Amino acid sequence: MADDQSPEPPWTILKILRWTTNYFDDRGIDSARLDAELLLAEVLNLERIELYTQFNRPLVEDELAAFRALIKRRANREPTAYIIGHRHFWEFELKVDSRVLIPRPDTETLIRATLERLDEDSAERLVDIGTGSGAIALTLASERSQLQIAATDDSGDALDVATANAQALSLEERISFFKGDLLDALPDEWLPLDFIISNPPYIAESEREDLQPEVRDFEPADALFAGADGLDVIRRLVADARGALRPGGQLLFEIGYQQGEAVADLLATYDYDEIELLKDYGDRDRVAAARKPDD
Ligand SMILES: C[S@@+](CC[C@H](N)C(=O)[O-])C[C@H]1O[C@@H](n2cnc3c(N)ncnc32)[C@H](O)[C@@H]1O
Repeated sequence: MADDQSPEPPWTILKILRWTTNYFDDRGIDSARLDAELLLAEVLNLERIELYTQFNRPLVEDELAAFRALIKRRANREPTAYIIGHRHFWEFELKVDSRVLIPRPDTETLIRATLERLDEDSAERLVDIGTGSGAIALTLASERSQLQIAATDDSGDALDVATANAQALSLEERISFFKGDLLDALPDEWLPLDFIISNPPYIAESEREDLQPEVRDFEPADALFAGADGLDVIRRLVADARGALRPGGQLLFEIGYQQGEAVADLLATYDYDEIELLKDYGDRDRVAAARKPDD
């Protein structure tokens, strides 16, 4: 909303939403209208739906100035979730910032698959490896009240965000957080585990330049990339989980949609049973699941 391009005042909610949507569209932003609404709702301290009931409300100069600053950041391809500081996931509004990956709807596939394997009153012992914002651990804690949950990350910054989210949702008593590399983070008393769940980094270095600028330039590289073929972390996770699971325990983790075959082969190499590839909403391989054989 450069001053020289501004139409005559007053700027109403509807007028500014239309202008911003066009501006974002022109800059190649996919979700132009949605982003305009989320940013404006943040500035006006309204729910998105409330914008629709106040289309003719004029904005005052302070509101315009605050909105202009957010438009500038978004036009620079900073993700909307980082600008407004939160992201809707499952039934929550999670705090997010540049220290953590923005949780994706794809990850609900992993959560649903895990919930299907857990009884309502399951008191099993589960770890979420690479918890980031805490999205997976927090959702499982809210859905299964007896589940014993640990959540790990090798990023202390990410754990700070996850802990803040747990407190905001009053779930901090339900989850034990540990910092460290994959399963090494867990104290011995958590072993053996019934479930190991993870959304690990799985993007190949070679794909870096093909990513949207929002991802490539703003999200933490350690949350995204895992070596030449994207499987460096998954290889170690599959190997280490074999030792950390109890006989009959289950491993479920998110994968890239082109990694299904390689991951199924890897799980077979480590003699897991019941190897399955589960599909996301777009019908693409998104989750690998397997069971450690009974003794
Ligand atoms: C793809 S993000 C997933 C974040 C969150 N679980 C979600 O689904 O939105 C991967 C996370 O794993 C963490 N991570 C990467 N390598 C790790 C390692 N070797 N050990 C523990 N955590 C790791 C990153 O810091 C990041 O938070």
